[in-house]
Amino acid sequence: MIIAIDGPAASGKGTLAKRIAAHYGLHHLDTGQLYRAVARDTLAKGGDPADEAASLAAARALDPESLDDAALRGPKIGEAASFAARHPKVRETLRAYQRAFARRNPGAVIDGRDIGTVICPDADVKLFVTASPEERARRRYLELKQNGAKVTQDEVLDDIKTRDERDQNRAVAPLRQAEDAVLLDTTNLDIDAAFRAAIDIVDAAMGHAGQAG
Ligand code: CDP
Repeated sequence: MIIAIDGPAASGKGTLAKRIAAHYGLHHLDTGQLYRAVARDTLAKGGDPADEAASLAAARALDPESLDDAALRGPKIGEAASFAARHPKVRETLRAYQRAFARRNPGAVIDGRDIGTVICPDADVKLFVTASPEERARRRYLELKQNGAKVTQDEVLDDIKTRDERDQNRAVAPLRQAEDAVLLDTTNLDIDAAFRAAIDIVDAAMGHAGQAG
């Protein structure tokens, strides 16, 4: 079973994906971490993520064991990741790992920008999770502040808008809702309500309506 979850920056898809995976006993992959790690490793070598050769070298050398790194969550890395993510060869290099992950037993919940459209077009269930830019900025600001980052909510909002625009307008695998994805707008839902709504969508799609809990 494969559940694909896409959506714009800070839409809460990562938190949601983690909980959905735990609920169904599936593996979880946050593909944003792959692009963030490529940016981290490129910058660590003094390279520029906007430079294709530098990003590609980092993508080819990427160690999946290095994804569990708190340093990946910062806004600067998110911004740098969206530059690394524009290179077709970088995306191609990361594709094999993502597809192999999707084939793991008994299944996987994978979140990102192009999971339902490019990585797993045959996913059993596709969700497109979104919320208003202001609400996403509010949530990301609280998360960053909790982790000690020195940013204002306005800066976070600007970052989110710029990154969304870059992700939506790039030539390869742009952020967009797959035709067969179900839209979940969490602007007025807290995490528990969003989780219940997501479970209802998955259960309905799998023909298991009524098993939410
Ligand atoms: O957590 P947040 O929504 O802020 O971002 P993320 O999911 O960690 O992704 C960081 C950046 O990686 C995005 O802005 C995209 O440019 C890129 N990305 C991508 O191109 N394709 C994916 N499947 C996942 C992330």
